[in-house]
Amino acid sequence: MKIAWGITGAGHLLQYSVETLEKLKEKDHEISIYLSGAGEEVLKMYGLFNRVKKLTGGYYKELVREKDQKSSYPMTGRFSLGKYDLLVISPTTSNTIGKIVNGIADTLITNAVAQAGKGKVKTCIIPVDLEAGDLETVLPSKLELELCQKCEVCEAAGACPQQAITPGVEINLLKCKGCGACQRACPFDAITGGKMITIHMRDIDIENTRKLFKFPGVEVLSHPSEVLKVI
Ligand SMILES: Cc1cc2nc3c(=O)[nH]c(=O)nc-3n(C[C@H](O)[C@H](O)[C@H](O)COP(=O)(O)O)c2cc1C
Repeated sequence: MKIAWGITGAGHLLQYSVETLEKLKEKDHEISIYLSGAGEEVLKMYGLFNRVKKLTGGYYKELVREKDQKSSYPMTGRFSLGKYDLLVISPTTSNTIGKIVNGIADTLITNAVAQAGKGKVKTCIIPVDLEAGDLETVLPSKLELELCQKCEVCEAAGACPQQAITPGVEINLLKCKGCGACQRACPFDAITGGKMITIHMRDIDIENTRKLFKFPGVEVLSHPSEVLKVI
């Protein structure tokens, strides 16, 4: 099968999305991976970018990045021409869902969904904001200020290959590649990785997801692994 998989800037379900992509790759599908700008940044923060990149390479197996596509998104022409058998967006941020249900197509991923509609390419969307209420989700590396001893020489900052840490202040997540070296180096365990937090789903985001269920040609799934059953 020719599959296009879009990743947006959500930490939630990101690990499962990458694991599902790896399973699909084992089955010899041709997979192109499309990244929104935030999708690329967030993949790096969670240390998953290289795993995704490794799955790509070759014709219809490209890593398609927002920053390389400019404003007209020429690569999404493949969708309007019906060249793919399936488009999957997982994980899908509330931002991207909000745009899709309002017909906005001004990012690589929202544009791909719009063109897939024109080319009748079946589309599966896995939203982060699916059900009302609270959601347990995972954070990237985080400097816990209450544990930080403000050492004269910060071993975590010294261990960071990206120079992403301002000692005693913060981690610049836009520099962080999620390698975890800082967590291993800090003798006071002041840097956490994969910490769980609870966030509340906003009504407007849940309402937008409801609208998505009525979209022709779009199937809403609750977990990335469900894509394996669809295929
Ligand atoms: C570490 C991190 C995790 C994030 N996780 C989520 C998430 O789970 N769900 C979400 O809707 N937005 C999340 N965001 C915010 C989006 O990345 C942001 O709204 C972005 O503009 C979405 O752009 P996109 O929809 O084009 O990918 C996260 C941001 C960061 C920095």
